Amino acid sequence: MAAEIETTEKYHQWYYDTEVWQGVEFLGVPCYKSVSDMWNYQEIMAILKPSLVIEFGTRFGGSALYFSVIGRSINPDLEVLSVDISHQEVLPQVHADPAVHLATESSVSPEIKAKIIAMRARCPGKVFFILDSDHRKAHVLAEMELLRSVVESGDYLIVEDGNINGNPVLPGWGEGPFEAIQEYMQRYPDDYQRDIARETKFGFTFAPSGFLIKT
Ligand SMILES: C[S@@+](CC[C@H](N)C(=O)[O-])C[C@H]1O[C@@H](n2cnc3c(N)ncnc32)[C@H](O)[C@@H]1O
Repeated sequence: MAAEIETTEKYHQWYYDTEVWQGVEFLGVPCYKSVSDMWNYQEIMAILKPSLVIEFGTRFGGSALYFSVIGRSINPDLEVLSVDISHQEVLPQVHADPAVHLATESSVSPEIKAKIIAMRARCPGKVFFILDSDHRKAHVLAEMELLRSVVESGDYLIVEDGNINGNPVLPGWGEGPFEAIQEYMQRYPDDYQRDIARETKFGFTFAPSGFLIKT
């Protein structure tokens, strides 16, 4: 078991440190992720059948496009809200997707909370949330706090990039998503159940402790 962990950690470190993730594309649009995490997300979505995906952190829009294409093949009525402080880098394929809505705001603004509530009312059903914006602990914690009154039982929340700050990549980065999740769980231990089977399914993830099901 120890040897197995060492092997997956080495692969994780290689994948991260050589910036393989910065070359990942979905339908020609950069998508800064672990490809096995993306495979896991579509497996989760196939079971969850969400009506809505809420993404914090758009960048080029590769992940928003991915959630739209995959999500609409599961539920044709699915919509995606992708939030970023700037959408200048978003590629045309993403702008052309009718189900992707871009909101140019900070993910912790009251306007975003109101927008999520309005979209939930328009798209009743389960929601798949994914946090991938500013990775500093205080920001991620504020995002989780903002979502507290918005998530509903059975919704799925991914908190990405807990792998930084030495978990196991980028040691010394400073407190990030992993530490935000820990603090959130201390504050509200009953809010979410960790989906450890998903987290461990492909040996490594950019989202350690970050596969969460709302109780
Ligand atoms: C890692 S990128 C997102 C990558 C994208 N989800 C993907 O998988 O390809 C992080 C994004 O978060 C955005 N960001 C930074 N601070 C933010 C904030 N306060 N609110 C929303 N987005 C923010 C940045 O502008 C950047 O585009």
